[in-house]
Amino acid sequence: MEIIRARDYDHMSRQAANILSAQVILHPESVLGLATGSSPIGTYRQLIDWYKKGDVDFRRVRTVNLDEYVGLAADHEQSYAHFMRANFFDHVDIPAGNTHIPDGTNADAEHECARYDAVIRALGGVDLQLLGLGPNGHIGFNEPGDSFTKGTHKVLLAEATIRANKRFFKREEDVPRCAYTMGILDIMQAERVVMVVSGEGKADIVHRAFFGPVTPRVPASILQLHKNFTLVADEAALSKC
Ligand code: F6R
Repeated sequence: MEIIRARDYDHMSRQAANILSAQVILHPESVLGLATGSSPIGTYRQLIDWYKKGDVDFRRVRTVNLDEYVGLAADHEQSYAHFMRANFFDHVDIPAGNTHIPDGTNADAEHECARYDAVIRALGGVDLQLLGLGPNGHIGFNEPGDSFTKGTHKVLLAEATIRANKRFFKREEDVPRCAYTMGILDIMQAERVVMVVSGEGKADIVHRAFFGPVTPRVPASILQLHKNFTLVADEAALSKC
């Protein structure tokens, strides 16, 4: 595990964008695993800026997103499909057909999870997986529990996740209770994993995840065992380490 200590959110975002753009420049057909949420927005913004300057392009890149809320269609404002278009895909030259996100409208969970794992397999797995860190240590929507779940699965969101994500919705009741998420094995099989974490509010969980025992109670802690894991965190997020 490697830690890149950034000064603040913007510096963290540039450092992570450097790693992603190097990946795409060296391997234009890379499969990128992508995340939503506040943490990677600055990274996407930086990549868009470099794309507009002609320094990197995404024509041949393929992407698989970590997760999607069950029940939200791709055109719903709070869906992760919408988030990805608004914050990244619509601003670069990646063909829409190269991007993959679980289908939140598929009510048949078994079918949707098997379909998504087949998509990841058909792409040959993930070359670089970008992650954020949930307030309870979740990665994707792999919530704390008694064991790690390997493949894509339907998950009941933890109360802490619903509380953290209600900022994106009008009312807490509007936050979907379930999501489809890539599993821990899907994430651990990525060739390279890069996590972006910012802010004092994440300092405790960063300490527990990366300086404590590996346990499904803190799902991100499994990344300590990944062969090529880079944590890009700002000073505030690392203040308890
Ligand atoms: C999002 C995702 C989540 C977030 C995590 C942190 O696709 O998989 O694990 O990365 O909840 O969210 P933020 O960055 O908003 O603090």
